[in-house]
Amino acid sequence: MPEIAGPAAAALSSLCPDDVIFLRSLPKAELHAHLNGSIPIKTILELAQEHSHYSALTPEVAETIERLRSGVILNEIFDFFPLFPAIYALTSTPEAVAISTRAVLQSFLNPASDGAENPQCAYLELRTTPRATKYMMRERYLTVVLDEIEMYPATQAALIVSVDRRMSDLDVEECVRLAIEMKNNGRRVVGIDVCGNPRKGDMQPFTRHLSRAKGAGLGLTVHIAESTENTTEDSLALLSCRPDRLGHATFLSDELKALFFADIPQPGTECSLLSECPCIEICLSSNLLCKTVASLDAHHIRYYLKNDHPIVICTDDTLPFRTSCLGEYAMLLAQPPLGLGLSRDDVARVARMGMDAAFLRPHHD
Ligand code: IMP
Ligand code: ZN
Repeated sequence: MPEIAGPAAAALSSLCPDDVIFLRSLPKAELHAHLNGSIPIKTILELAQEHSHYSALTPEVAETIERLRSGVILNEIFDFFPLFPAIYALTSTPEAVAISTRAVLQSFLNPASDGAENPQCAYLELRTTPRATKYMMRERYLTVVLDEIEMYPATQAALIVSVDRRMSDLDVEECVRLAIEMKNNGRRVVGIDVCGNPRKGDMQPFTRHLSRAKGAGLGLTVHIAESTENTTEDSLALLSCRPDRLGHATFLSDELKALFFADIPQPGTECSLLSECPCIEICLSSNLLCKTVASLDAHHIRYYLKNDHPIVICTDDTLPFRTSCLGEYAMLLAQPPLGLGLSRDDVARVARMGMDAAFLRPHHD
């Protein structure tokens, strides 16, 4: 179990031991975790040590590692993305990708070393952006990650291939093609994700690739309306691909919700464009620490809970956000202002919704 800090730790430490036992025993699905954002700090430090044996860490890399170790403080969401070049400097070889993936899988899926019987989650859909470096092509990157994921049973782990908003049309095409080919070859690729700096990229040209992925039987999740700078056109382009799940959706307008979510009231119109209920991937610590929401009280999770709309509780990036699945669930159960003050029954219902939103439905087949 990762060491946690910040809002998740505050919520967890406010709970009585019985509540913690209850939360630990709940089967949880982690459906929104970025590989390179979820590497345990211990592994980052080991990789840094190894790296420094053959070439010196640049001052920028060394400084970011120190920030990750001591606790990153962000002024706004756009301060978050510059952390990744340092992490990528340490995970540029196939060996380092294998080590990192193994450590991430263990941290989510192996019973914790602190004596707790339950792993962080029962089921993990790990996502990652296939990266070409001077040591490997994108296909090799994905093969290394899948080799590690497939060490676990299909009931426990699967891969979502991310495309970054900054990618060129050719790059998106390649990532989606690789994902489809690997799925068709029996590898455990279950979906496509769109991620990256919300300020970057035009989503319109992405749509034909995303629709192709859906047509090939892959699930689709998209980071959407994560910042106030995301336009309606940006969200409309992503929603036009009929995603199965939405990451964050923090600033999605009421008009778009009414048009695209079958369970949200549609004032003044009888037409529903899609009549679907894409599950919202909620990452409470991530949103609080990136300051896209001011407080738990103001968090959009309340809107979705009130409308009985499907949600799943996720960690996003446990490395910079210093959280865990348990920590995020603690924020549901803890009393305000540390948590939402939900009942145990409601928390159990939320956990079940998460399991139901998995792209691979091993628990249902
Ligand atoms: P990777 O895909 O395994 O390399 O994980 C890190 C990448 O995930 C980052 O470079 C970002 O593009 C993406 N990412 C992580 N967290 C977020 C988020 O909250 N919003 C958008 N993209 C994110
Ligand atoms: Zn994310």
